[in-house]
Amino acid sequence: MRSHYCGEINEAHLDQEIELCGWVHRRRDHGGVIFIDLRDREGIVQVVYDPDRAEPFSLAESIRSEFVIKLRGRVRVRPDGTVNPKMKTGKIEVLGLDLEILNSSEPPPIQVDGDIEVNEEMRLRYRYIDLRRPEMLEKIRLRRDVTLNLRRFLEDEGFYEIETPFLTKATPEGARDYLVPSRTHENSFFALPQSPQLFKQLLMIAGMDRYYQVVRCFRDEDLRADRQPEFTQLDIETSFLDEAQIMGLMEGMIRRLFDEVIDVQLAEKFPQISYAEAMNVYGTDRPDLRNPLVLTDVGDLMASVEFKVFSGPAKNNDGRVVALKVAGAASLSRKEIDDYTKFVSIYGAKGLAYIKVNDRAEGIEGLQSPILKFLPDEVVESIMQRCDAQAGDIVFFGADKAKVVNESIGALRDKIGKDRGLLEGDWKPVWVVDFPMFDWDDKSNRWNAIHHPFTAPSCSADELKENTGSALSRAYDLVLNGTEVGGGSIRIHQTDMQQTVFNLLGMEPAESQEKFGFLLDALKYGCPPHGGIAFGLDRLVMLMSGAATIRDVMAFPKTQTAACPLTSAPSMVSDQQLKELGIKLRKPPVSVAE
Ligand code: AMO
Ligand code: AMP
Repeated sequence: MRSHYCGEINEAHLDQEIELCGWVHRRRDHGGVIFIDLRDREGIVQVVYDPDRAEPFSLAESIRSEFVIKLRGRVRVRPDGTVNPKMKTGKIEVLGLDLEILNSSEPPPIQVDGDIEVNEEMRLRYRYIDLRRPEMLEKIRLRRDVTLNLRRFLEDEGFYEIETPFLTKATPEGARDYLVPSRTHENSFFALPQSPQLFKQLLMIAGMDRYYQVVRCFRDEDLRADRQPEFTQLDIETSFLDEAQIMGLMEGMIRRLFDEVIDVQLAEKFPQISYAEAMNVYGTDRPDLRNPLVLTDVGDLMASVEFKVFSGPAKNNDGRVVALKVAGAASLSRKEIDDYTKFVSIYGAKGLAYIKVNDRAEGIEGLQSPILKFLPDEVVESIMQRCDAQAGDIVFFGADKAKVVNESIGALRDKIGKDRGLLEGDWKPVWVVDFPMFDWDDKSNRWNAIHHPFTAPSCSADELKENTGSALSRAYDLVLNGTEVGGGSIRIHQTDMQQTVFNLLGMEPAESQEKFGFLLDALKYGCPPHGGIAFGLDRLVMLMSGAATIRDVMAFPKTQTAACPLTSAPSMVSDQQLKELGIKLRKPPVSVAE
């Protein structure tokens, strides 16, 4: 139907007759001459209809935005003064020789040309129109380039792409499962995979050596800007490599990706930071290293002060007291400080004490703060020294359970860093390593696996049983600009160790047999040492494209309540279907369409 894409026409095609198909991006009537911006996947080109060709001219008058048309035309240079340097095709235009309307369009509910803000519900409901907008198309194209580049790297490195089942058994990655009832096995359910974790390990046992898959994962969890109920992982597993080798290989992949796709040269070697240090210095295990602000522990200085807000957590084993110095921010207004206090309260902080430094030379007299009266002068002086506070700085304080302090002051660090434009450099990847194996879950009164229960500890089974809380794992996360883009580990490859970990997680042997008997069995038949990683593809593309949410880099994402406004999924089903599945609803709907 066509000889060229709209976006590829340039001066090389001058005087040629070409055929184009596409959508009417814009139609302008300029005193007897009609201009059509014709759009297809590759771009936009300007087509001109003169009245001296009466038939196509009158058709051109009748077309509207988003009509689908086909035309023949001749490429010519644009007249002087009408060249558009912003357009790839801005030096030329196409003189329309004929015109055929392939399909009309109702006025679109979302404007494709222009940047009018449309609410997201509308954009998702009419996603096929939203995706026509050049900026959305650009993101989808980038996603395709990213996926293709990663695939090429892995193919070059000898990885096999192998598919794994969607209808499967629960894989614990910390979220709720999406369940699928089985018609043929009454009362039984499949779970959609939260990741292909166990299958990729089984593939290593099967001798596949190097596996990858661009794979959909399903997690029923609270959604955020960087979380979707179904999302895509680049899932990877290898045999006979240790963590340094896997991280090295993956660094090479990410470095090549950024270089080739967005022309960004990442650091030659990505830095590594231990989980403990990340929590201490940044209050989070996904630190944004572009942000120069750091948390400074001051608990030791506060333990004996009378001010209970500080001394309480300072003396408590799971308490923490930190200072966050922000250089040059003593000028923050009362209202701004109140707003930050409100902000940290979201994370459970009960207040946000601060000291403004007006003049260092005057000692205590040069400071300004509602809490000075509660603190001995020498303590205040030590804090100022430890934070290296200078005139014009402000020092914030967080005191509470360590978890609350880390979350609230960690988030405050991010917020102030962005609010005050403190971020340095564009891209700061970092590996977070030496995670603990477990953390204690107060609610269920048992240990939880921090990565997943198949992650190997860096100690023996006996040591793990002895020092369960302090044992470290062989896991690693790749964090980029404060977003966790990937996570993986060396796996347990021996039955005894796997059984030990299941036991420590509070699983009786019968339960672990029932849930993971197939894995425990498989480990008996010659399992190689193995490990891997999974990258959040949506998150990577979000960062690389500068999108604000992962929804903008997914063709058909779901809303914050995990629904699809386009198809109206999830939806009710007929009684007949339920009957076949042996399911009775606890709260039957008033009426269900058959
Ligand atoms: P993990 O649970 O860390 O590891 O997931 C790997 C990466 O997937 C991305 N991710 C998500 N992206 C969008 N929406 C979500 N709801 C979501 N959840 C996770 C993150 C994360 O780093 N099986 C292990 C990997 C392994 O050990 O090899 C796993 O799934 O970017
Ligand atoms: P209060 O004595 O509760 O009025 O608190 C005095 C100052 O300490 C105020 O500036 C509070 O915002 C701050 N504050 C109270 N609780 C905390 C806390 N847990 N961490 C940090 N600052 C706090």
